[in-house]
Amino acid sequence: MIVTRLILKNWRNFKEVDVALGDRVFLVGPNAAGKSNFIEVFRFLRDIAKPDGGLQSALNDLGGLKKVRCLAARKKPDVEIEIHLAESREAAPEWRYSLGLTQKPGEKTPPSLAFEKIVGRNGAMLERPDDKDKADPERLTQTLLEQKFANADFRDVARFLETVSYLHLVPQLVRHADKFVGPHFTGDPFGLQFMRRLSDVGKGSRTEMLHRVERALRVAVPHFKKLRYVEDRRGNPHIEVLYDHWRAVGARQQEDQFSDGTIRMLGLFWALLEGQGLLLLEEPELSLNNDIVRQIPGLMHELTRQTPRQVMVTTHSYALLADSGIGLEELLLLKPNPEGTTVTQASKLKDVKALVEGGLSVGEAVLPLTNPPEAAQMSLF
Ligand SMILES: Nc1ncnc2c1ncn2[C@@H]1O[C@H](COP(=O)(O)OP(=O)(O)OP(=O)(O)O)[C@@H](O)[C@H]1O
Ligand SMILES: [Mg+2]
Repeated sequence: MIVTRLILKNWRNFKEVDVALGDRVFLVGPNAAGKSNFIEVFRFLRDIAKPDGGLQSALNDLGGLKKVRCLAARKKPDVEIEIHLAESREAAPEWRYSLGLTQKPGEKTPPSLAFEKIVGRNGAMLERPDDKDKADPERLTQTLLEQKFANADFRDVARFLETVSYLHLVPQLVRHADKFVGPHFTGDPFGLQFMRRLSDVGKGSRTEMLHRVERALRVAVPHFKKLRYVEDRRGNPHIEVLYDHWRAVGARQQEDQFSDGTIRMLGLFWALLEGQGLLLLEEPELSLNNDIVRQIPGLMHELTRQTPRQVMVTTHSYALLADSGIGLEELLLLKPNPEGTTVTQASKLKDVKALVEGGLSVGEAVLPLTNPPEAAQMSLF
């Protein structure tokens, strides 16, 4: 299943959004346009649906409803999210899930549901507030996604949301994971547990997955020869690499010595191969050579072929969007406005369409629209 439509009201810097989504989504826009905020919606829904999650803790992690609610929101300040889930972009939705969030101003009452609705193929299956909610309003502090006993009829929705994963790998964290202590983020977004994740996969699958990563790294990293998974004496997992320009014996290096780009590539490949469900990737182009970045859209397709999954990517990269296989309907352009950022499918922009028909890549046609108008003035400061 994939998310085929997202409707938002008052989420972060979006006052209103209503967009169609497909297997691949590329989000472009200036800095602070809201690309990360857009994909954060899916992490939020995952954090509600995950086994030890729930609405209150998911909101707490974001700093409360006040921080989430769009600052441009006026008369109707409730935050609303609606997603449609279907087998493919073209298929009719199997599920439509929506919720509205509200909080009484000035009171210390927790945020609660203004409404929650699930519509299946055959019509509405649930609409809250229902009679029980009206009799006991405290029930509205929890969604049905988080109540496993109550959601048997539409557990597919909760299951789908639980599988959402997010990657914004920070090489320093992978390299020096043992030096970082403190609470961990859900789903290991920054790679602190990356080595652990390798060890959690069964030996057979791990060997096969690492073999594919090895072949790709051989193309991308000069002198890279071999890669293998090892455990040290204390049972801690490591990746060991052999380069062909050093001594034939004893010249192996482990992840604490890999370059940023090597680590980020490892993480990217692994994420694409690792799971199912929606994958959210933040700027996968970081630290990578442009010729390698150009291959990322193709890799996304190739590596997810066996276990198809929807991938949403934020990017600023011309190289990433140079791939002629990317359609304009896969690109979402975010434009900041005083009244909230707007989101437009690039295929709906006539000028952009004409440029692509004239031979430009989707990146060349769309990315100039994301440039700050006075960027050149920065050099004057
Ligand atoms: N509740 C809110 N209402 C309005 N704006 C908000 C709200 N919460 C966050 N923002 C704004 O969202 C912006 C950050 O958005 P985000 O991090 O999604 O940008 P981005 O497009 O990912 O940028 P970059 O390319 O730099 O990563 C900030 O300018 C912040 O002020
Ligand atoms: Mg961002």
